[in-house]
Amino acid sequence: MHQLSDTAGIVLRTLDGSDWGAVRRHLLRLATRERQERFGHLAGDDSLRDYCDHLERSDAVLVGAYADGEIRGLAELVLLDGQPAAAAELAVSVHRSYQSRGIGTAIIARALTLARERGIHLVSMKCRWGNRRMRRLAKALGARVSVRDGEVDGVLRLQWPTAP
Ligand SMILES: CC(C)(COP(=O)(O)OP(=O)(O)OC[C@H]1O[C@@H](n2cnc3c(N)ncnc32)[C@H](O)[C@@H]1OP(=O)(O)O)[C@@H](O)C(=O)NCCC(=O)NCCS
Repeated sequence: MHQLSDTAGIVLRTLDGSDWGAVRRHLLRLATRERQERFGHLAGDDSLRDYCDHLERSDAVLVGAYADGEIRGLAELVLLDGQPAAAAELAVSVHRSYQSRGIGTAIIARALTLARERGIHLVSMKCRWGNRRMRRLAKALGARVSVRDGEVDGVLRLQWPTAP
């Protein structure tokens, strides 16, 4: 997998209430293609604002990659309702001009560490079949991948460290 390269000025961290403005700006700055790939459809600004309101009320765990004072990469880990408590869905987005530097790989790795700490066993990652980057990421992580109606669902069973 990609190592985080050109790391100067990029800071990864778990986000909290003070980051909501930056989270909104990040999602609203996504270009057409990134919006389509992230949400499965061309989400307009109003729908993104609604989504942010929903996200803010949820118990999602967020990891951000900050550069130049703004979030350039975001990983969202959302517990799945109606599933065993230990299942979550992971979605990621990196601004186009920051892609292919390892940011996606790094924020996913951080989100999976947080998932383990919260006792989550299964993490699902969805994308369209044409999303080669995301498919590569899912494959590199060892996700079990299924395809239905052009949508890829990669399921990752998290390994936990065992006591010596
Ligand atoms: C998917 C996404 C998060 C990846 O972020 P990123 O920062 O570019 O990821 P990385 O730099 O860590 O690279 C990830 C992999 O994609 C590969 N990749 C990079 N550019 C690529 C390209 N043009 N075509 C195919 N694969 C490519 C990298 O080589 C890497 O694979 P490797 O580790 O096996 O070499 C980013 O492209 C994105 O935000 N896309 C729009 C939203 C989206 O698709 N989200 C996923 C569904 S929720």
